[in-house]
Amino acid sequence: MYFRISDIKNSDFIGKEVSIRGWIHRIRKQKENSFLLLRDERGDVIQIVYPSFKTDNLTIESSIGVKGVVHKDKRAPEGGYEVRGSDLDIYNLSQIDYPLGEYTSIDLLLEYRHLAIRTRRMTMISKIRSSLLRYLRDWFVYNDWFEITPPILVRSSVEGGSTLFKLNYFNDFAFLSQSAQLYLEAMIFSLGPVWSLSPSFRAEKSRTVRHLSEFLHLEAESPWVTLADLLKVQEDLISSTVSNVIKERKNEFEFLRIDTSKLENITPFSRMTYREAIDLLRNKDFKVVYKGSPRPIEYGDDLGIDAEKLLTENSHVPIFVTNYPLKIKPFYVKVDPNNEEEGLAADLLAPYGFGEITSGGLRESNLQQLTKRMMLEGLVSSDYEWYLDLRRYGSVPHGGFGLGIERLLRWILFMTDIKDTVPFPRTMSRINP
Ligand code: 4AD
Ligand code: MG
Repeated sequence: MYFRISDIKNSDFIGKEVSIRGWIHRIRKQKENSFLLLRDERGDVIQIVYPSFKTDNLTIESSIGVKGVVHKDKRAPEGGYEVRGSDLDIYNLSQIDYPLGEYTSIDLLLEYRHLAIRTRRMTMISKIRSSLLRYLRDWFVYNDWFEITPPILVRSSVEGGSTLFKLNYFNDFAFLSQSAQLYLEAMIFSLGPVWSLSPSFRAEKSRTVRHLSEFLHLEAESPWVTLADLLKVQEDLISSTVSNVIKERKNEFEFLRIDTSKLENITPFSRMTYREAIDLLRNKDFKVVYKGSPRPIEYGDDLGIDAEKLLTENSHVPIFVTNYPLKIKPFYVKVDPNNEEEGLAADLLAPYGFGEITSGGLRESNLQQLTKRMMLEGLVSSDYEWYLDLRRYGSVPHGGFGLGIERLLRWILFMTDIKDTVPFPRTMSRINP
């Protein structure tokens, strides 16, 4: 029987013989003894001591089985436990030219991502990512929302034509889905509140630290909701998930030297309207580049990365920005009955400068309004007839939102580059490994 390393680092095991297996994380050969750091498949490490003659041919990343006795020795790294090895099984002697070391460049780490995911840093991130997905799902299960699985091959664009991936589809064409929203909207008529977790694709032609061309998208949609209801759902979902994740993954956050006090007491989320955001930015003398030259930001401009950074960098809690001008939001956003120029939409901006992590709001449920807006956006109606049927046959007030998993992780991990939050990032310049 093989133990996990995390189990044997325990005073009950002192003096006991154990078998463990894993990979050689580090090796230091001295005259009499060799000191290995063995890493198991959970990313935990422990020091192994062998007489040096036994380890002559061992290399970094070789996979081995170790039998030996557990000792407490305060000189041993990572908790003061070590195994004094007797037997040694070699599963695979790693080639001597293992390409990654302590000082590998960021580019090389991306080139060898299939190996770099073995680093302890990436292991910790992956564990946090897994817990995050688990607690998000738990929230929906607990609150009685149905999980659905939308199609990925689609004919309709949701978030504008410029970021669509187009592909051959038999004798025709299709797109990779940008968002499951339209399909979630179709499902609320028979399931009520629904949600999905699926990849979304965006042919982002800009290189930024917060855009991937494939990202994991959590989307939710419900009939009979108000904008206030939707904000409440997001606040509850995100705050309870973050609180559970930092509890469950305390050690991982510690290893990554993340100050989790910055993730505690994040409710209530604050709120401002888009107009208030613009006023705030103007007071801070924020400028945008317009036709090649800078000018003060104006009502009607998009809030880009830098504007969102300025709005959130001194906030400890996430901020909802609501009531956007319709012309900077997609066709489906519901018109505010009190202001024809604005839509009942909201983006959620993460604090400490991280910016947008969700977009959502109420959907236009009126057939004429929706058709008019789709025409303005130049959407070919034959591909959207099915969607318009949802407004023809028993349309109801409804709304929802989309949350970017990597965006949420980028915030709670306090990492600048979104590529760090996903094992195999896809960007404009990277599709392999
Ligand atoms: O703001 P977006 O484009 O909104 C939608 O797709 C809606 N149809 C969602 C809905 O209401 N069901 O995308 C939603 C979220 C963003 O707030 C962001 O967190 C993430 O998805 N996102 C990206 N994450 C990484 N890379 C990209 N290129 C992203 N584009 C959007
Ligand atoms: Mg958005």
